Amino acid sequence: MNKTFTLKVKEVVKETPDTITIKFKQPLFKKVKYQPGQFLTLVFDVNGHKERRSYSMSSAPNLDSTIDVTVKRVEGGLISNHINDNLQAGDSVDVMEPMGLFTLTPEKDKSRHVILWGAGSGVTPLMSILKSVLFFESNSTVSLIYGSRQKSDIIFHDQLELLKNKFGERLNVVHCLTQPDAQWGGLTGRIDDVKAVNIMNMLPSVEDSIHYLCGPTGMMEAIEAGLKRLKVRKSNIYKESFVPKHEDASDDIKTQKVKIILDGEEEEFVVNPEQTILDAGLDSGIDIPYSCQSGVCTACRGKCVEGKVEMLSADALSASEIAEGYVLTCQAHPASEDVVIEIG
Ligand SMILES: Cc1cc2nc3c(=O)[nH]c(=O)nc-3n(C[C@H](O)[C@H](O)[C@H](O)COP(=O)(O)OP(=O)(O)OC[C@H]3O[C@@H](n4cnc5c(N)ncnc54)[C@H](O)[C@@H]3O)c2cc1C
Ligand code: FES
Repeated sequence: MNKTFTLKVKEVVKETPDTITIKFKQPLFKKVKYQPGQFLTLVFDVNGHKERRSYSMSSAPNLDSTIDVTVKRVEGGLISNHINDNLQAGDSVDVMEPMGLFTLTPEKDKSRHVILWGAGSGVTPLMSILKSVLFFESNSTVSLIYGSRQKSDIIFHDQLELLKNKFGERLNVVHCLTQPDAQWGGLTGRIDDVKAVNIMNMLPSVEDSIHYLCGPTGMMEAIEAGLKRLKVRKSNIYKESFVPKHEDASDDIKTQKVKIILDGEEEEFVVNPEQTILDAGLDSGIDIPYSCQSGVCTACRGKCVEGKVEMLSADALSASEIAEGYVLTCQAHPASEDVVIEIG
């Protein structure tokens, strides 16, 4: 359960005033395999607590020799600032296996238009997808529509310029700044539904385009609304959110006892209304598997065999998994007495 392995930092690259890329060495013998768009969960010991945070890989598999994660400081954030302040070449970091369903597998004979929509650190998984398509799908085109605050906040600015020079018409990059200086001649303001439609109308061959969205929830909802207007099929839109849902559970949620059956062993603990089943289980010292804590990876999946649970988000589960009773413990609150969840 919750197995980790160690990666060594080869290099730390400053991308913008508040963002760095950590380049990990690929282990010599057991190479880390991942797909474009997936994330690594890094584990740190801070003040006697094990803290896990997920970071999407900005490197592309089979192309970049290092495994890269790009970390932007979050105001008041524990781990993003710890990483930016302390991590150096030569350090070792515990990580979990790459995970995530926000992926694109390049297919060399495919000819498609991959449109990537991001803001801030949301560009990291998009960068991995962008490079993979450009290098491994030679008939496909990529467009990146990328929102930042100021020009100096644009992560991967120089790398994108180099890629534009190398790939010409196969790569379109549209920057949009919310706080541009007087010299800025590009798009300004937030990327909303109207802008999304206007940008789509500027791009070449958008028919049958496939879309990857990673940024603040409001921006992703607005872009989706714009794409809906342009009749882009829902099945061609993939989304990833970095920020866990903060909605409170409904008023019906009360303090309840929950039983977890983990590899055949039964463990019982109390879950308060403000806790998820995962949080309460971990607080009770139970080694429940988990990774992203945001409802995107399914590492914390279990089957509810008795009682009822309410989930804040079940987007990462298929309809058949939900029908069979599978739940994500990082998103679940007990909605009845006697909830029993089997894991493993
Ligand atoms: C699947 C996945 C992939 C991710 N990939 C990346 C990545 O490639 N690069 C990257 O920089 N981050 C990424 N994140 C976010 C990252 O995991 C952390 O949540 C982030 O670094 C904040 O951690 P912290 O310990 O500094 O903040 P915490 O101490 O955990 O939180 C401090 C406060 O900031 C809020 N907060 C948390 N995350 C964010 C955020 N992203 N933006 C604004 N407010 C936030 C929290 O709700 C809380 O109120 C990813 C998250 C997920 C779930
Ligand atoms: S820990 Fe990733 S979905 Fe729950």
